[in-house]
Amino acid sequence: MERLKQLWQWFDDRTGLSEAIGPMLAHPVPKGSTWAYVFGSATLFAFMLQVVTGIALATAYVPSTDGAYESLLFISNQALFGSVLRGLHNFGASAMIILIGIHTIRVFLFAAYKFPREFNWLTGLVLLAATLGMAFTGQLVRWDQDGLWSVFIAANMAGRMPFVGPWLSDFILAGQTVGATTLSRFYSFHVFFIPAVLFLFIGAHLYLVLRNGISEPPKLGRVVDPKTYRDWYHDMLDREGVPFWPDAGWRDAIFGVIIIAIIFLIALFIGPPELGKPPDPTNIVAYPRPDWYFLWLFAALALLPGQIETFFIVIGPVIIALVMLLLPFYANRGERHPLRRPWAMAVVLLVIIMIIPLWYAGARSPWSPDFEAEPLPAAVVNSTEPQIQEGAKLFHQKGCEYCHTISGYGGHRGPDLTTVGDRLSVNQMTWRILGGADLMPAFASTLTPEELDSINAFLQSRTAQSASSSESAAIEETK
Ligand code: HEC
Repeated sequence: MERLKQLWQWFDDRTGLSEAIGPMLAHPVPKGSTWAYVFGSATLFAFMLQVVTGIALATAYVPSTDGAYESLLFISNQALFGSVLRGLHNFGASAMIILIGIHTIRVFLFAAYKFPREFNWLTGLVLLAATLGMAFTGQLVRWDQDGLWSVFIAANMAGRMPFVGPWLSDFILAGQTVGATTLSRFYSFHVFFIPAVLFLFIGAHLYLVLRNGISEPPKLGRVVDPKTYRDWYHDMLDREGVPFWPDAGWRDAIFGVIIIAIIFLIALFIGPPELGKPPDPTNIVAYPRPDWYFLWLFAALALLPGQIETFFIVIGPVIIALVMLLLPFYANRGERHPLRRPWAMAVVLLVIIMIIPLWYAGARSPWSPDFEAEPLPAAVVNSTEPQIQEGAKLFHQKGCEYCHTISGYGGHRGPDLTTVGDRLSVNQMTWRILGGADLMPAFASTLTPEELDSINAFLQSRTAQSASSSESAAIEETK
């Protein structure tokens, strides 16, 4: 024991470690900080986990178009602890997004961006953007269908910006389309450039937290006045401040450890989500979806009518970014308590009210084909005629049912065809099936004339009358 102490003293004397760290750990902070204050440090914990697991993944990952997907398959299925590792990195990413989101909302609700912490807010915004950038580039680096497609959509969105659009889209894809250069670009951003930005700005952010002190918990009626705030803050710390460690820091430590433990347990027992399908440029009827953090955006784009969509893509993000960037300048004084800033609560509430249903819609994505559609049951087909039965079978086999519902079975991308026989003639149907439409592939080259006849016969048999009789047949069947 004595030996260890001597060793430490020798080490500390030569390095000056406790002299450097000690004052930081012991610096006084306002008393009464609560669990609401732990999300920033927890984001840092999650980031560290991402750095460690990311480096480990990079030792086996091959950043090339024909190696990437295979190497991830290898990591997931064969490498020792590879699956847990991918799980840690995957759920760590989700955790980091959630934590930085809560941290941002907390800072906004507590108005901690007011004087003198304007730059704490601005560096925080850079960190938020960089974290989203990591999530976005991480999707493509996975090099599966979903990741590729999400990037394509993003490049498409960027391409519609006025003036800079085409240049921006070119910059994202590193060319006209997703390919080898895109992967190189995303990989270098994901492992070099954005992490460098993160390290740099985390340093700046922490320095500012130390320099300006943690914001004291807001109190009704206490206003921030730039003329007097600093003096008041230091007086308050002198009077009733407590050392950061251990009085306030213990919560950060415990919460951080709990978060890491939860990520670990999920990675261990649930494991990483399956890799999506490998990218297949010949598969035109693919409707993959992005990772959950961008799902709401995907839903918004799918649901908005065309003209509003452009407005939403182009003007929306610019306005949001400007409002957030300028926030500490047009509102850097005054009341901090959320109850005295009802509009701030309204903004948070509004964002939540808008995003949650979009998320839900994105997860269900009724506008995507339903590839799990079961063949139509006999009670729905409800016919003994061989041609009609054959048509019903083809309706499932040829993928019509992915997009079209009949008596409640099938996807919702196209119109419900339960009573199409009342609506369309054989000619009109043939025209539509062979020629396709905006959102329907043309089947002229994939259906034989006999198959087309069977499908037509089946669809002609779909009438209001047949629907009600098949309904009663179905009820008979379940009895
Ligand atoms: C990728 C999704 C998708 C697939 C697969 C698909 N359709 Fe469609 N279908 C649509 C959409 C969307 C429309 C509406 C097109 C429009 O009117 O602009 C449509 C329209 C139709 C219509 C006209 C319906 C009406 O009420 O006007 C018929 C009939 C039809 N499809 C039959 C078929 C058949 C038969 C198949 C399989 C051989 C098929 N569809 C495969 C998406 C699809």
